[in-house]
Amino acid sequence: MGDVIGEVLFAEAQIRARVREMAQEITAILPAKDLLLVAVLKGSLFFLVDLCRELPAECEIEFMQVSSYHGGTTSSGDVQIRKDLDVSIEGRDVLIVEDIVDSGATLSRLLAFLGSKGPRSLSVVTLLSKARAKGIDVPAMIVGFEIPDEFVVGYGLDYGERYRGLPYISILREADRLP
Ligand code: IMP
Ligand code: MG
Repeated sequence: MGDVIGEVLFAEAQIRARVREMAQEITAILPAKDLLLVAVLKGSLFFLVDLCRELPAECEIEFMQVSSYHGGTTSSGDVQIRKDLDVSIEGRDVLIVEDIVDSGATLSRLLAFLGSKGPRSLSVVTLLSKARAKGIDVPAMIVGFEIPDEFVVGYGLDYGERYRGLPYISILREADRLP
């Protein structure tokens, strides 16, 4: 591991402990048997893998990909679905697995999109949530950590596709931004 990128917000052990707790929160409110995790690529990959290992073995995994950033550090608000699901979610208990909720635009779009496909229930788990997302109307959302309105990287989260592999989550410094 090289130099630390940015100011460490959550260390590896802290993330691991919180993910374990979140799995317990999920199994307390959702039926373990038929649960379908819909992970939003690519940011939620690391979280998905760790979370899934803490959940009952029957859980299934599917992927979607959306884009709203187009490379920078602010959402464009124009949320496009780049990869749809390959399976039907009709009658399923669906849990959207997100890395971070910022403005809430991505999540609102996903909720409307998946909600129209007839799931039995639709819930959300996000590792991180920025304060300004508080106003959005999400029926059931489990949040790992509330964070300030800063741009963060690591543990799956990227800045222009960089820094996803960092085992911790840190606040991106000016010096680490692309020229
Ligand atoms: P929203 O649509 O504004 O809620 O943005 C959600 C998406 O933007 C997330 O799923 C991330 O992919 C990305 N995003 C938002 N904030 C950050 C951040 O601080 N670091 C890295 N990606 C972010
Ligand atoms: Mg994302």
